[in-house]
Amino acid sequence: MNILLLGSGGREHAIAWKISKSKDLKKLFIAPGNTGTSLIGENINLNTTNFEEIEVFIRMKKIDILIVGPENIIVKGIYDYLKPKFSDLVIIAPSKEASLLEGSKKFAKAFMQRNHIPTAKYKSFQQHELKEAFSYLESMEPPYVIKADGLAGGKGVVILDTITEAKSEIKNMLERKKFGKASEQILIEEFMSGVELSVFILTNGLDYKLLPCAKDYKRIGEGDKGLNTGGMGAVSPVPFVNSEYINKIEKTIIKPTIEGFKKENINYTGFIFFGLIDVKGTPKVIEYNVRLGDPETQVVLPRIESDLVEILKKINTNEFKSCDLKIKKSYCTSVILTSNGYPEKYKTGYQISGLDSFTETDLLFHAGTKINKDKITTNGGRVLAVSSYGEKLEESINKAYKKVDKIYFEGMYFRKDIGLDLIVK
Ligand code: AMP
Ligand code: GLY
Repeated sequence: MNILLLGSGGREHAIAWKISKSKDLKKLFIAPGNTGTSLIGENINLNTTNFEEIEVFIRMKKIDILIVGPENIIVKGIYDYLKPKFSDLVIIAPSKEASLLEGSKKFAKAFMQRNHIPTAKYKSFQQHELKEAFSYLESMEPPYVIKADGLAGGKGVVILDTITEAKSEIKNMLERKKFGKASEQILIEEFMSGVELSVFILTNGLDYKLLPCAKDYKRIGEGDKGLNTGGMGAVSPVPFVNSEYINKIEKTIIKPTIEGFKKENINYTGFIFFGLIDVKGTPKVIEYNVRLGDPETQVVLPRIESDLVEILKKINTNEFKSCDLKIKKSYCTSVILTSNGYPEKYKTGYQISGLDSFTETDLLFHAGTKINKDKITTNGGRVLAVSSYGEKLEESINKAYKKVDKIYFEGMYFRKDIGLDLIVK
């Protein structure tokens, strides 16, 4: 199989790493890729949102499977563009309509309502409905959850304690178009309190395979304090998610989602990332993502024992249903190393030392790095993801931090509490 993977983050390095182990792989291309992916495949300088460029490359290199990492390419409609042009190409990305599950929070909420999928109560408002938005807000209890409808680079959700702040944020979004087009429409949502978890499936819209679940750590500071980031670490599996709880998630959330696709003729081939929250024993949906998570992928894929390419190549055939997805028993923990200042302003270009002590069996995923005159330097906010297995959760955490200790660059920052809240004493 010739495979083209789009994206350039730690998630894409982890996907490339898993693909590179397949016995079915002939050639792996990554566009644009990163330092890590260049070690296991061929990085290609393509503009990933220029679908004509991608089409030409797919033809030229006889690509069999296209895997799309980030949501912006999916939401822009890569599936709809390529599908009519290549009948045999497997595209791991859902249709433009299905991608609205992530691209429009209003679409996702309405889908959940129609299909009786548990989620927070909400209402949506447009610019001319400021009065209505304020009066709905007054009927809610604090904290107030305000969301821009469209993609806002992970910044579109604001949670505020006072009604004055909430009203001002609504004005910022609707009137001052804080997030441009993305906040021309907003949602006001009931606040849900509980532990969050990320659940992943691979689906062809009819059947699905359940991937390992994970918990990510979104805030920059220890104890979940400070600004939201792309993710500072992750662990898999999540100890409280036993088989009974997974059954509940499948019955109340995953199966109704797939049934919803069938009923509504929604075309979906790819991964779904269910952002869930446990509200006193009941799993509810915070959001859908139409892709894998970052950094969850850096702990989820290492726990998959099966050959992923073998499953992906069958995804649009009758054989997909009977494919066996084997999952390792071990825990996996990933710690993200960031540049000082991230998620706000930071400097790059610092040399990273200690990487030569890592071997092929270590799970080291690059995100924001660059090769500069034979030296690896920092080149982004999230720089590296250091993952490790362990028989027990505590062991995987300790091993990941031991490996982190071997790495150094100026301004290197990481959270020291990844996974610690999940250790059952
Ligand atoms: P999202 O961009 O939808 O993932 O939201 C970002 C984060 O905001 C989530 O991971 C939650 O921590 C939080 N969040 C979103 N919606 C709610 C809600 N209704 N209740 C509580 N927290 C929420
Ligand atoms: N880790 C959260 C995300 O990928 O959106």
